[in-house]
Amino acid sequence: MRRLVRETDLQPAHLVYPLFVEAGLNGRTPIPSMPGQDRLGLDALADEARDLAALAIPAVLLFGLPPAKDERGSGAWASDGIVQQAARRLKDARPELLVFADVCLCEYTSHGHCGVMAPNGEVDNDATLPLLAETATSLAEAGCDVIAPSDMMDGRVATIRAALDGAGFSGTPILAYAAKFASAFYGPFREAAASAPAFGDRRGYQLDPANGRMALDEVLTDLAEGADMVMVKPALPYLDVLRQVRDAVDVPVAAYNVSGEYSMLMAAVQNGWLDEERAIDETLTAIRRAGADLVVTYHARQWAVRRR
Ligand code: PBG
Repeated sequence: MRRLVRETDLQPAHLVYPLFVEAGLNGRTPIPSMPGQDRLGLDALADEARDLAALAIPAVLLFGLPPAKDERGSGAWASDGIVQQAARRLKDARPELLVFADVCLCEYTSHGHCGVMAPNGEVDNDATLPLLAETATSLAEAGCDVIAPSDMMDGRVATIRAALDGAGFSGTPILAYAAKFASAFYGPFREAAASAPAFGDRRGYQLDPANGRMALDEVLTDLAEGADMVMVKPALPYLDVLRQVRDAVDVPVAAYNVSGEYSMLMAAVQNGWLDEERAIDETLTAIRRAGADLVVTYHARQWAVRRR
């Protein structure tokens, strides 16, 4: 009876699994702040693609740890950049795996900010735009199926759309991290991706957690600039925003169940304070119920393993 009247379903087909790919690494190495998650070397990707296929997880979202960083983040758009290489490997191993590429400079800049710095020590929004466009084009050339800008510079969706179209990738969709809040819950990710800002914080370009209406405005702006799908991030503290976005737009809506949400739950599980299976199921189902079509989550793989 419960199955018959259930309103919300959760399938592997709804999940996107984030992967951290590290240059120079052989095999995999655990991420201490994210129990159960690893950084992967290029040589581990073919097996990973096969495992995810067996679990019917359709998509991954790639993050890179480059061999070196510089002021401008040039590793982000290098044709042999770490994510570019990873995308080629994954596509070779499993062409039907959907490869989403996160587009941002923070993993590639020596200062860890999401854009280049102006002389006054602030992020230079407009000088960053062409670099993001270059990065997006290079990722599409490497075979990435979806371009997902997370940098939060104003005007980046329009700039990236124009660049992709100009380079012959008019069929490559953009998933905009549209409502991305300046959140404490990105902490474990910044350790995993070695992308914490060396000074200051991201409040100059990410949303104030207090502002739900502004989040909706960001979503509409990104759609007007040409985004095909929009994301709300983090997920759990912003389920109200997710619902508002779902009600306001007809495009696919994604939610990012971020690193801090993952680590918080897993820490409690490790202490024996939460039932892992039920807690994850409830979490992901709630995100779907609030309106997410796609859920980006570090739980994806384990959830799918247990479900078999
Ligand atoms: C890059 C980026 C971040 C995350 C996704 N893309 C970090 C940040 O904005 O500081 C966070 C993801 C997570 O916490 O799981 N800008």
